[in-house]
Amino acid sequence: MIRKITTADNTETFLNETVGESYHSQTGAVEEALKKYAIPCKIAEKAKSGKIRILDAFFGIGYNSAMAIDIALKENPDCEIEVIGLENDPEIIQKMQEIDPPIAFFTHYKKLTKDNLKFKEGKVSVKILLGDARETVKQLSENHFDAVFFDPFSPKTMPEMWDTSLFEQMYRVMSDSAILATYSCARLGRENMSKAGLFYNDGPTVGRRGPGTVATKWL
Ligand SMILES: C[S@@+](CC[C@H](N)C(=O)[O-])C[C@H]1O[C@@H](n2cnc3c(N)ncnc32)[C@H](O)[C@@H]1O
Repeated sequence: MIRKITTADNTETFLNETVGESYHSQTGAVEEALKKYAIPCKIAEKAKSGKIRILDAFFGIGYNSAMAIDIALKENPDCEIEVIGLENDPEIIQKMQEIDPPIAFFTHYKKLTKDNLKFKEGKVSVKILLGDARETVKQLSENHFDAVFFDPFSPKTMPEMWDTSLFEQMYRVMSDSAILATYSCARLGRENMSKAGLFYNDGPTVGRRGPGTVATKWL
């Protein structure tokens, strides 16, 4: 069962009762998309170059990349943006029809349904690869993405998503200057990032939780 909930910044998300976790932090769903993903991945700065490629790994209802598009277009309305989302559950994609978060570009995200997994709007293209992220990521080109939003369920619930082999794939598809961000500071994820060749650091602390993690190919 997937149930709608309201978080502390008054924005909505969903609770997956089967998994026992929500899709965003209870301290604020939209706040998390901005402060744990768009800002640490330096989306505004990267948008100045005129082109930005984002891997929204574990797409859910798409808040992280939709927010990043808002930030990028605010900085550079002419920016070309490519978003690839990885998600294995058509039901959560369908749930986007039930919400209207305060993210301007989300009105376009509502074109995404379980039967329509891509759209293009001006210079922005968004495409979801439906399936197990550990497999679909293998379709992606190496050295391609400027930012990776790494947002699976927690290491406690889904340790297999925090495995070295998936971080190796992230490393493979990241450009040399790319930044990967995740909400978790768990040791399991951080150690496996290192094993995959990534260098990690504390990301921002939002609400009362610990810091997130940012990782790059360089020190
Ligand atoms: C924490 S939620 C992501 C929230 C999302 N980033 C957002 O802004 O809405 C984790 C997501 O991972 C998806 N997921 C779980 N296992 C997966 C797998 N093996 N491959 C791809 N996606 C998976 C879940 O369906 C869920 O949508």
